[in-house]
Amino acid sequence: MQHQPIGIFDSGYGGLTIMKEIVNQLPGYDYVYLGDNARAPYGTRSYETVYAYTLQCVKWFFEQGCPLVILACNTASAKALRTIQQNDLPGIDATKRLLGVIRPTSEIIGQLTSTGHVGVMGTTGTVQSNSYLIEIEKFYPDIKVSQEACPIWVPLVEYNEYRSPGADYFVKKHIDQLLQQDDQIDAILLACTHYPLLMEKIMQFVPHSVTVISQGHIVAESLQDYLQRHPDMADRCSKNEKRSFYTTGDVADFNNHASVFFGEAIEAVKLVL
Ligand code: DGL
Repeated sequence: MQHQPIGIFDSGYGGLTIMKEIVNQLPGYDYVYLGDNARAPYGTRSYETVYAYTLQCVKWFFEQGCPLVILACNTASAKALRTIQQNDLPGIDATKRLLGVIRPTSEIIGQLTSTGHVGVMGTTGTVQSNSYLIEIEKFYPDIKVSQEACPIWVPLVEYNEYRSPGADYFVKKHIDQLLQQDDQIDAILLACTHYPLLMEKIMQFVPHSVTVISQGHIVAESLQDYLQRHPDMADRCSKNEKRSFYTTGDVADFNNHASVFFGEAIEAVKLVL
């Protein structure tokens, strides 16, 4: 049997916040990361476009041999995951698997709130899809979920402005708007993998009584659990501690930013799709 790396996909840099936690949790496996930086952000694009871009990237991972791909992007998970799993995967290779980030997060969100009032911050696409409302309702029908779309937060990260003083205004604005919807919110989920990069600023504007949740460790633990429950899939994944990085955008730019986000030097390869 051929052993191949686990694929991790995001529209840009955000998935690196997930990959970092996955590598911490499961260091033995090989990983290949693809950031579609040339076409980011996805968050304001239509369903058709996000689906088409995501499918193209997922096919690329499968062509590389990856048996398992994680969509480390909420927007792609909200708008493309289900359709690819149900309509495309059987025709591509029914033995391959594609997992997203919304379900594992929704499964445990109830453990992180005492009031039962949760805030979800995401891209316009994720919020408009209502995916979190639908998924959380399945596991915790009594939890009240309020959502806030923060369309400018991803560009702040992609364009390296997430530490700039100018970012403060937009970070505060969206947190205030979320908390105004429901003053009993005691847990805010950062439902976009780019947002943990803004954590320092977010914490400045969130009351101490509110917990801010990023998804990296949740997705990493869920993947570990998945691989334990599917030893056949765990067997198909190669384990040489190798990591490779691809971007559809500018390689030098990716290397500079991504090394900071990931916490170690990265040498990416340019991918032309
Ligand atoms: N990081 C992605 C997410 O989790 C999307 C960012 C974007 O491309 O808009 O939603």
